Amino acid sequence: MATTKVVLGCQWGDEGKGKVVDRLAADVELVVRFQGGANAGHTVKVGDQTFVMHLMPTGILREGVKSLLGPGVVLDPWKLVEEIEQLTAQGVPAEERLLVAGGAHLVMPYHRRLEELRERDLKKKSIGTTGRGIGPCYEDKMARMGLRASDLARNDDSLRRLVIEKVLRANRLLAERHEAPPLASEAIADEVLGCAARLRPLIVNAFDFLAPVREGKMTCLLEGAQGTLLDVDHGTFPYVTSSSTAIGGALTGTGLSHRVIGHVLGVFKAYSTRVGNGPYPTELHGDEGEDLRAKGKEFGATTGRPRRCGWFDGPAARYAAQVNGLDAVVITKLDVLSGIETLRIAVAYELEGEGRRESFTNWAEQLERCRPVYEDFPGWEEDISGMTSFDQLPRNAKQYLEALEAQIGVPVRSVTHGPARDHWLERK
Ligand code: GDP
Ligand code: IMO
Ligand code: MG
Repeated sequence: MATTKVVLGCQWGDEGKGKVVDRLAADVELVVRFQGGANAGHTVKVGDQTFVMHLMPTGILREGVKSLLGPGVVLDPWKLVEEIEQLTAQGVPAEERLLVAGGAHLVMPYHRRLEELRERDLKKKSIGTTGRGIGPCYEDKMARMGLRASDLARNDDSLRRLVIEKVLRANRLLAERHEAPPLASEAIADEVLGCAARLRPLIVNAFDFLAPVREGKMTCLLEGAQGTLLDVDHGTFPYVTSSSTAIGGALTGTGLSHRVIGHVLGVFKAYSTRVGNGPYPTELHGDEGEDLRAKGKEFGATTGRPRRCGWFDGPAARYAAQVNGLDAVVITKLDVLSGIETLRIAVAYELEGEGRRESFTNWAEQLERCRPVYEDFPGWEEDISGMTSFDQLPRNAKQYLEALEAQIGVPVRSVTHGPARDHWLERK
């Protein structure tokens, strides 16, 4: 009965979840995204085509698979229409495969504007968000003020009135908080009506739609965005995103019960990256960081920002494994480490003034004062991206993977060694 799989990012996002979901989606009937919005950027290579999904579940690339944007998602209608069109132009009939939960909240232009102004006011203390209006949209949800996808199903007059009312409210906030000029409510309402005409046929009641999953009659994959260390409760607050990226979000963001979940798969990069601000003990500054960035092509798919790069953080990985109750792990981008003479893994921290500490802390102020304690491992020279079985991996690569596994405390089931679909090694 409990056959639903969950795929979760277990670092600071960009672990390669898109590639993992694309692979696993081949074996299910439904993929559901449960949180976040167009702040995500999942790049998937299929043959010589490259697809970048922001809002869209990655399952959309698979023929015969339905994709649902769950109630926990925040949905920017403009971006969704844009993404549908982009995918359609690339030969993916997104509109035929996609459904949208009525409970998903709508990201509006005033959310993006409010976020931009707040980030500007925070100056050095800014979060370094993706600028997609995610935080302010979730604020409106929690304040019970937001618009939802189900509102797009209203008749045009009712929807127009509602949008105008919300824009006028936001205009008051823009003026009071930031002395900013108002947004054009009528024009925004016109555009929302345009999006509604397009998206209405896709909107479903998630509880009804997910009945076959509850009844064990439909195979399903729940697709996480961002990563555990960006979780609003369990990440390095305030340097987090505004959603529940860890396992809890898979339940609250779908309305499915824990009873349907049969397997939780964690995705870790063989090293680490972080975009935006916040503490990052294993960050590499200078040439080493630059090299890793260049080799891993570590630039944000959503904002184009260079990702901060560093060594694998064992305490952080253990934390993510335990918060999520992982059953198994996929290690991605192992190929990027080929040719590095000595690889380092943080196995503990030295907390300023307090001595050695084995466990992670999600208190940003404390994590800021943690210095990594490293163990070193010999690297390998071979280009591993052409290898077709796990057994072919160089001895040192296997030793490094075993060290990661020991840190995470959960079995490594698969390894990816390149961006393509078949760059995937299953460990027997
Ligand atoms: P996501 O947000 O977790 O889906 O990850 P992103 O798509 O933002 O970042 C992962 C990037 O690494 C993408 O550009 C992928 O095409 C690429 N990628 C995924 N797996 C591998 C791998 O094993 N090796 C290499 N070199 N690139 C990979
Ligand atoms: P995927 O799904 C990496 C980061 C931002 C910022 C913080 C808050 O591709 O892994 P937000 O716009 O969400 O309010 O920004 O979270 N962030 C991500 N970092 N990958 C992502 O998504 C991210 N989505 C948000 O850089 O630090
Ligand atoms: Mg990404």
